[in-house]
Amino acid sequence: MLMFHNALFAQNSVDQRVEEIMSKMTLDQKIGQMIQITSTSGDEVPDWVRDAIKEGRVGSILNAGTPTAIEQLQHLAIKEGPNKIPLIIGRDVIHGYKTIFPIPLGQAASWNKELVEKGANIAGIEAYEEGINWTFAPMIDVSRDPRWGRIAESLGEDPYLTSVLGAAMVKGFQGDQLSDEEGRIAACAKHFVGYGATENGKDYNAVSIPDYHLWNVYLPPFKAAVDAGVGTFMTAFNDINGVPASANTFLLKDVLRDDWGFEGFVVSDWESMSQMMNQGYSEDLKDVARQSANARLDMEMVSASYQKHLKELIEEGEVDVEIVNTAVRNILRSKVQLGLFDKKYKGVPKKSTILSDTHKADAKAMAIESVVMLKNNELLPLKEAQKIAVIGPLANAPAEQIGTWSLDAVIEDVITPLTSLKEMYGDKILYAEGLKNSRDMDTSSIKEAVDVAKQSDVVLMFVGEDAILSGEGHSRAFITLPGAQETLIEEVAATGKKVVMVVMAGRPLTFDHIENKVDAILYAWHPGTMGGPALADLISGKVSPTGKLPVTFPRTVGQVPLYYAYLESGRPANPDMLGIPTGTPLDPVGLSNNYLDVSITPAYAFGFGLTYSDFIISKPKLSSAEITATETITLEVSVKNSGSVDAAEVVQLYIKDHVASTMRPKKELKGFEKVTLNAGEEKVVTFTIGADQLSFLDRNGKTLLESGKFTAYVGNSSDNLHEVSFTLKNLK
Ligand code: BGC
Repeated sequence: MLMFHNALFAQNSVDQRVEEIMSKMTLDQKIGQMIQITSTSGDEVPDWVRDAIKEGRVGSILNAGTPTAIEQLQHLAIKEGPNKIPLIIGRDVIHGYKTIFPIPLGQAASWNKELVEKGANIAGIEAYEEGINWTFAPMIDVSRDPRWGRIAESLGEDPYLTSVLGAAMVKGFQGDQLSDEEGRIAACAKHFVGYGATENGKDYNAVSIPDYHLWNVYLPPFKAAVDAGVGTFMTAFNDINGVPASANTFLLKDVLRDDWGFEGFVVSDWESMSQMMNQGYSEDLKDVARQSANARLDMEMVSASYQKHLKELIEEGEVDVEIVNTAVRNILRSKVQLGLFDKKYKGVPKKSTILSDTHKADAKAMAIESVVMLKNNELLPLKEAQKIAVIGPLANAPAEQIGTWSLDAVIEDVITPLTSLKEMYGDKILYAEGLKNSRDMDTSSIKEAVDVAKQSDVVLMFVGEDAILSGEGHSRAFITLPGAQETLIEEVAATGKKVVMVVMAGRPLTFDHIENKVDAILYAWHPGTMGGPALADLISGKVSPTGKLPVTFPRTVGQVPLYYAYLESGRPANPDMLGIPTGTPLDPVGLSNNYLDVSITPAYAFGFGLTYSDFIISKPKLSSAEITATETITLEVSVKNSGSVDAAEVVQLYIKDHVASTMRPKKELKGFEKVTLNAGEEKVVTFTIGADQLSFLDRNGKTLLESGKFTAYVGNSSDNLHEVSFTLKNLK
């Protein structure tokens, strides 16, 4: 009760403060709060920015420059700006600020929400120390198309995994809610919504999502972010079924505010409002301002429709002034909650933990857990006393291994695999680059790499994608290893030496015909500042890999989109059709849901990943084979580390609803637990199953719980599962 009173009191005092400020503001100044500009990259503050702040024409700045510039900006706002309202300073702090963690897709492969939360916390602390109080993360767009460059910034293909890890990131940046705690910054759930469903994997493309998928696949991570207390939302660049996200009243008002009760503020994406003119949705900039304001978009990023037209639209009665009042309240409330008014602008905090040993240790721990071992023919971990050839364009490429969205990375602090392996193995390491970078087509240095391989007992081959090949606007139509990397691998493998292939990339790549030329594969994504030491520890066996894929790996780009939670066809796949002999008569009965030229299975399944140990997961035991709408049942398995190495296994729970009023996916992830076990150790894992796991949303977003048969699957990969069925009964 006391807590409730305190919370109420705090909320009242925030609202009171907001009302006090509001009462002194002119309409122009209110509109000013709804405007975000981008400023500078250096120490200096340009005159036009100074003027805008002094005249109250701006509420937020992104990319505000160095801490010195930020200090000046805040001084101007609270000393010379009307009403002395501090600025909210935004920046893309996506997977680390200066200490870079693995790309988000790599972090998702850890399936470790505590580590993910920690990573966001550290990123936030470092950014906070340089005056940033708002990050544009997490990106929680469900992504099922590896051609799309931004899959790197996503948490993968699954709504549940994305929800759990996205909420962990929100908590890492903010704590439990927006607060003035030292080192906490506001998070931003982006991009609302459907950006990951971009047609044909090209960035900024049109998006069509049936209502049913919108509610069950794309919206849940955003709802989870609201439940985790996220302070802000960002709209997506795309349209959804013909209505741009930045003018979508259904999403921004009906769903986000009225249904979910979100109380923070919503920012557009970079010029996503003015771009509605290109999309053929807005006549001119005035139309843009009218449409976005009426849809309840609170703050405009970079483009200037609110600045130029919002006042006029209010005067003409095209936009209700209360819409502006509400938007400004949302923004000011966040500024008050973040404690920006009380910072006195001393300015930027002076103590620094940036790139500290503890931050690096945490980045290394995350890099270790993000690596997924896809194959191991008893080659890893490396045995002692061998000559080791380190080959490939990504072995010693610090600026590439940090991946996309590392705006503030300190490249000199990045440790590459070559450096760490030399430290670990000394002169047993021989090195040849083979190719200058991942896209290099010049094969003239491959001979040197082959010679180095010949002089060695084993080859570590570091291949993949340069950082620029993934991320925003960087989509690919082919997702093979670029450049002459396949040739490099083939020629080195032809020496007969055993090869470990380490892939650093921003997306799932296809390497089906290379796979059998190498003996082990570690998928390291872009692992960040501490990628080198993490990989050296894994390769040498100091620690075991424990990562699991957060996204399905296709065999070929032609299978895309390929994801585990698909809806079953009326004519399920018949593997016999692969390689069908010429002259086979057309027999409609034999025709089925598959390709003639590639298997229906993925190269590697969602949830898959090997360790240096072996785990046995027992058959699941249910507390009851029947359940009613109001009950829960438990599902229990034991997991045993039956190998000789300490490691961790991710026990995964999937559920299938067999018959429903709208078709349900083949199976859906509904729970997971990462269990660390010493060799020989065993543990019982218990999952609770109830309405939350068994219900789904109809096309209007209404929760449905339907009786009938369900199956629970438990195992260590979406394609390696025990199953047990039960019945949901007693429903009308
Ligand atoms: C991206 C956003 C990002 C914003 C600000 C846009 O281009 O889509 O995710 O936060 O720029 O840099």
